[in-house]
Amino acid sequence: MTAVGIDAIEIRAGKTRLDLPGTFAERKGEDPEKYTKGLGLHASSFPDVYEDIVTMAANASKRLMDRKGLQPDDIGRIDVATESAFDNSKPVSTYVAGCLEQVYDGDFNHANKGERKFACIAGTQSLNDAYNWISAGRNRGRAALVIATDTALYERNEPGEATQGAGAVAMLVDEDPSLVELSAQQGFGSADETDFLKPNQQFPSVDGKRSMQVYLARMREAMEDFASAEGDVNPEHFAYIPFHTPFPGMVRKAALLGYRNGIRDTDIEDALAEEIGHQPRREAFDDDESYREALSEYADALAKTDRYGEWYDAVIEPTLDISRHVGNWYTGSVHIARVSALKRAADEGRDLVGERLLVGSYGSGAQAEIHAETVCEGWLEEIEALNIDEQLDARYELSFEEYEMTHDAHNHDDEGEYDELTVPSDEFAFDGWGRMGERKYRYVS
Ligand code: CAA
Repeated sequence: MTAVGIDAIEIRAGKTRLDLPGTFAERKGEDPEKYTKGLGLHASSFPDVYEDIVTMAANASKRLMDRKGLQPDDIGRIDVATESAFDNSKPVSTYVAGCLEQVYDGDFNHANKGERKFACIAGTQSLNDAYNWISAGRNRGRAALVIATDTALYERNEPGEATQGAGAVAMLVDEDPSLVELSAQQGFGSADETDFLKPNQQFPSVDGKRSMQVYLARMREAMEDFASAEGDVNPEHFAYIPFHTPFPGMVRKAALLGYRNGIRDTDIEDALAEEIGHQPRREAFDDDESYREALSEYADALAKTDRYGEWYDAVIEPTLDISRHVGNWYTGSVHIARVSALKRAADEGRDLVGERLLVGSYGSGAQAEIHAETVCEGWLEEIEALNIDEQLDARYELSFEEYEMTHDAHNHDDEGEYDELTVPSDEFAFDGWGRMGERKYRYVS
């Protein structure tokens, strides 16, 4: 079977930056270490007044198409994953295609377009849709453009405000990919949950602490399902394990859970037994509560072992490099975690060809998915072509008042006029409203 996977990726960050331990924590009267040590966040990226999910998606896609020498005819499918859509009918992918048609000669008239919704996991679901479309031979030689784009804004003065972010990830899915090959095996953990939702409202209703428990429960189930499909879940068999990253502190918990589950009944568990004993087994306990307590004690001891620490530093920590500086991008978060890890490998001169990644995606509501990927021959060239460091360095630094203004400017219920903080150049920008209430865009040279 032909290899199918991600051929290229481009990332577009919101053009402004909020310093979390500095500007934000100071104004909130909080200890900066809650951000740097607790949540693991240094900054959030925010969209300037003329940026939104469409401009970020279109700007990432244009850079990707230019870099890969693509024309609209080469794309047979455009799927956008987002939980920040502003239209319940017309998909964001049509807006993105409209933007791109302003700057390319051809059009996307024969491309199948859609929009995927399942909170943050929708980006990975779109990737899977593209994989299935190509694997089924329905693509007629064309590639799929998969875009995860979000402005992850919370109501002001809610706990989630600490984890906001904005950005887009555009991925070209194709045969014989240069970056990573996807595998057919998947594991799912899915349940009807009300931990984080937006019932016809822009800002989410969130039960923050519970959302973290739900994330972990679904991820554990997805791992079990993946293992039952004969997927390898041994955490030491993977170069990197990118997880959905609402904030790095969440991944710290997911990684420990994943490692503990993944080493059960392996030589690693036996090797660690001298130091911390074997993992508790349910049958040895009278009730669930005492079993859970024993598991939690084991996990605490495991986290302190050198073996776990070294594994975490090598396999998990590199996936968090970008997230720490941009916050939560919802649908894009797991995809910047992948890029982050590959970028670290490139910076360290590591040869990754043929190595495997285990990818843990998650969406509130709730569902987790686990799949494996294999790094392809062209990965280094693809990763070296990214300009994410330059974008992050060039961001406009927000004062607290400018942050509040930015939040208001992107509040759908706020009809005020706001001044731009940066000047658009060589990019798509929001250009006002059309006669039917549609958003309009123009390419600013
Ligand atoms: N020094 C060091 N650490 C500190 C500290 C300090 N001074 N102050 C606090 N901390 C630690 C806390 O101990 C805590 O860490 P642990 O969980 O390991 O104990 C961490 O920093 C956060 O502190 P709080 O729990 O006090 O923070 P909070 O009450 O403000 O809420 C939150 C945190 C619940 C994550 C909140 O930001 C929130 O609701 N976020 C949105 C929901 C979310 O992201 N959920 C994640 C799972 S759902 C998902 O993944 C989907 C998605 O993208 C939304």
